[in-house]
Amino acid sequence: MKGQPSGLLLLLALLFTPSMGQLCYEPTESDPYLYFSHKTAYQLIYNSKFKPVPYCRPTFMWMYIRHGTSYPNTNESLAIRQLHLFKDRVIKNHEERGNGHLCKNVLDSLKRWEFEVNPTSEDDISPQGRMDMNLMAKRTKDKMSEVFVKEINQNTFKIYSNEDRKVMNSAEEFSKAMFGEGFKSKVQIEKVENNSTFIGLESCPKWTNEIRNSEASLFRKTPEYLNLVSQISKRLGFLDNITDDIIYAMYESCRYNKALVLKSYPVWCGLFTRQELQLLEYHEDLDYYYKYGYGSDINSKVGCPIIRELIEYLNAVAKDDVERPSAVFRFGTSAGLLTTLLALGVAKDSVPLTHSNYHSQYRRQWRMSQVDPFSANLAAVFYKCDQGDEENKVMFYLNEGVYDYQGCNVGLCSWKFIEDRFKEYLGPDGCSEVCHDQSKASSIQSVVFITALLSIIVLAFAHV
Ligand SMILES: *[C@@H]1O[C@H](CO)[C@@H](O)[C@H](O)[C@H]1NC(C)=O
Ligand SMILES: *[C@@H]1O[C@H](CO)[C@@H](O)[C@H](O)[C@H]1NC(C)=O
Ligand SMILES: *[C@@H]1O[C@H](CO)[C@@H](O)[C@H](O)[C@H]1NC(C)=O
Ligand SMILES: *[C@@H]1O[C@H](CO)[C@@H](O)[C@H](O)[C@H]1NC(C)=O
Repeated sequence: MKGQPSGLLLLLALLFTPSMGQLCYEPTESDPYLYFSHKTAYQLIYNSKFKPVPYCRPTFMWMYIRHGTSYPNTNESLAIRQLHLFKDRVIKNHEERGNGHLCKNVLDSLKRWEFEVNPTSEDDISPQGRMDMNLMAKRTKDKMSEVFVKEINQNTFKIYSNEDRKVMNSAEEFSKAMFGEGFKSKVQIEKVENNSTFIGLESCPKWTNEIRNSEASLFRKTPEYLNLVSQISKRLGFLDNITDDIIYAMYESCRYNKALVLKSYPVWCGLFTRQELQLLEYHEDLDYYYKYGYGSDINSKVGCPIIRELIEYLNAVAKDDVERPSAVFRFGTSAGLLTTLLALGVAKDSVPLTHSNYHSQYRRQWRMSQVDPFSANLAAVFYKCDQGDEENKVMFYLNEGVYDYQGCNVGLCSWKFIEDRFKEYLGPDGCSEVCHDQSKASSIQSVVFITALLSIIVLAFAHV
């Protein structure tokens, strides 16, 4: 009998402790979830461990690099700015209406939150982005030092960038660290025009017309996502559900703040639970899967000219062509990088991502946080080897880590294998034109044909 009261106390404690814990919400700071799809900080994911390939030396490298962390663009800034008003409503919910569930320290950091971006900096590279480019260039030079022994000039090194300001500034920052402050007197950054096939999707008229991305919006109607909306609304003290636009603005603010100021833990991130951040990450991955990924047929074809260029360079190295450059760097956006990866078959899942298979895609390859963060990059390195079956090898690196390419030996590919696999890309018809309609050209041809036919008929009648 003596044990009974304490047993009762224990029972009471069990009943009440969890609900006491729920009285106010605060994020668990010890292990925050920081993977924010294509707006993840590069420092969090790049592979810093590098091992030279035994008995092999790098003789050529080709790299595609996405721009470094940028400031939000005009639209995104607009969305984030409206959070100032929203923030005041959340504070009011807590302090005047007594509806909110945020702990006082969370509310206090929310009160201190402000967002200021100089309009002239919108959509430009940030100091963090510049630093990432600088450090990446230095690491690359260090790891592949044999590639960088040649005199620097327009023939030995090639740098291409598209016209986008953040991309061009990334290319400059990288080149300064790689080739020295005054690099421009030795090697120019060649501008890739907006209408070039090397830009990728954004300049592809067919793509703009064809891509219909309904999966991401369908995902916002799933029970998991609707539950997220209702949970976060309650947490912030709203009786009604907040809109998808507000949730998007909160998420944008969270991930930009994190990527721009690496050591911070942004207050808007902390309002979401870990599971909610993973749902939002999937939503973004799903969006990109159809916009730039395997979800739309046209996407993998757009990367063809870029891979053809790569294969041509590798071919020249294999043939010991002395005219070939030592390294080629291409700078672009997610659209360019991802279509390049698609043409190579990188980060491909056997089952497509859809709005309804979030749980089974938990271990997906198409995880933009790992594949396409800010400063994301793919490198192909040609190795000459002294031992083993073959002299010529190729290795792919994704975000500086060895990419375990299918058909290769822990990432090390025989050049023959790569050559065979992409042989079809070479030759005049290797990459069929996918972006611009051929019908105009063919209709001109048929006009010529009919005219010719008419003249023959006319001639035939004239003879009679
Ligand atoms: C900004 O938003 C408008 C309207 O939604 C859209 O037409 C435009 O393409 C967006 N611009 C950018 C750079 O995303
Ligand atoms: C090319 O695109 C960039 C970025 O979208 C833009 O700033 C520039 O004005 C465009 N150039 C031309 C010639 O259309
Ligand atoms: C792109 O546009 C420029 C200027 O308008 C033009 O000179 C060039 O030929 C175009 N390139 C392609 C590949 O269409
Ligand atoms: C909020 O959304 C949840 C989930 O869709 C729904 O059950 C609930 O009725 C909504 N609340 C309001 C006030 O509309």
